[in-house]
Amino acid sequence: MSATSFFHRSVLLDEVLKAFETISDGLIIDCTLGLGGHSEALLSHKENISLLGIDRDLVAIKCAEDRLAAFGKRFQTHHSDFRDLPNIIAGKSMDIIAEKNIEKQPIKAILLDLGVSSMQLDTPTRGFSFQQDGPLDMRMDFSQGETAADIINSFSEEELANLIYEYGEEPASRHIAKQIVDSRETKPIETTVELANLITRAVNYRERKQGRKIDPNRIHPATRTFQALRIAVNRELTNLDKFIGQAIDLLAPEGRLAVISFHSLEDRIVKNAYRFAAGACQCPLRLPLCVCGAKEKVRTLTKKPLVATDIETKTNPRSRSAKLRVCEKINKLGIET
Ligand SMILES: C[S@@+](CC[C@H](N)C(=O)[O-])C[C@H]1O[C@@H](n2cnc3c(N)ncnc32)[C@H](O)[C@@H]1O
Repeated sequence: MSATSFFHRSVLLDEVLKAFETISDGLIIDCTLGLGGHSEALLSHKENISLLGIDRDLVAIKCAEDRLAAFGKRFQTHHSDFRDLPNIIAGKSMDIIAEKNIEKQPIKAILLDLGVSSMQLDTPTRGFSFQQDGPLDMRMDFSQGETAADIINSFSEEELANLIYEYGEEPASRHIAKQIVDSRETKPIETTVELANLITRAVNYRERKQGRKIDPNRIHPATRTFQALRIAVNRELTNLDKFIGQAIDLLAPEGRLAVISFHSLEDRIVKNAYRFAAGACQCPLRLPLCVCGAKEKVRTLTKKPLVATDIETKTNPRSRSAKLRVCEKINKLGIET
């Protein structure tokens, strides 16, 4: 599959370039390479940098490799979960580091553009979208085991309700879970549209029961449940806070970390991880002494997250929910420059 077969408009592209404006050499790690839009812009604007692009989706890696081939050895890819980055850098995969010729370069910037790409959403067989029918898969990495169908057809009603509520913040989670469990008694739920229709029925039933009119402008009733399933299948929030701390440790002094998130659960994790890395104590107030080990390692460059301009949201509706937070590692002496 070539990059030209798919399209993904990178969100907050100008803002990411601005966030990394102080970086002119060394290594940039794009932890969520996708189709390589951010990476391409960074490689084009900064001729003395090298870039390592990581993605857990082999199709994305292949597309980005085709698209960015012109950058030669300045651009390298690695197929893995970005949460493996500390191991890769610590030399547990020295072959990768040496082979990719990046071992001696200081890491000057790390980018995370979380979530799914338009390529993943727009490919019905991947099962991410309720707009087009396909198998309930949702795995970003095919080598990983559990699919969305496995969860839908095996979790208990209570487990489903909790998952949909926790990862989807869906108020109708209990109704949806009941509808799923009732429906799968007849036959397993296998496709995206089958699930989306069933969720719509459950949400509409709840609205009617509560005496509310159905709002024609509401978001699609399946949006939150699909988000919840995707997060669960790909364990998207697991150890994200820990990874942000590790990414900061990997950065060279004055190196920058930029994270784009797409929903409040992610953004909250990023915000708190930055706060902790900026030295804010996380201990409960009742403790007389700090035991959390908070140490000032960064300064946050975005007091409030950066969001897309009106022009961007018009041309790229996906950018509507994007939030960018940037921090900079303070130098070794702990003195800000
Ligand atoms: C929003 S897209 C990135 C788009 C990219 N910035 C661009 O401009 O083309 C997110 C990508 O991150 C990948 N991804 C999500 N979580 C990941 C993880 N934990 N490890 C590695 N890749 C991940 C997805 O497979 C997807 O390709």
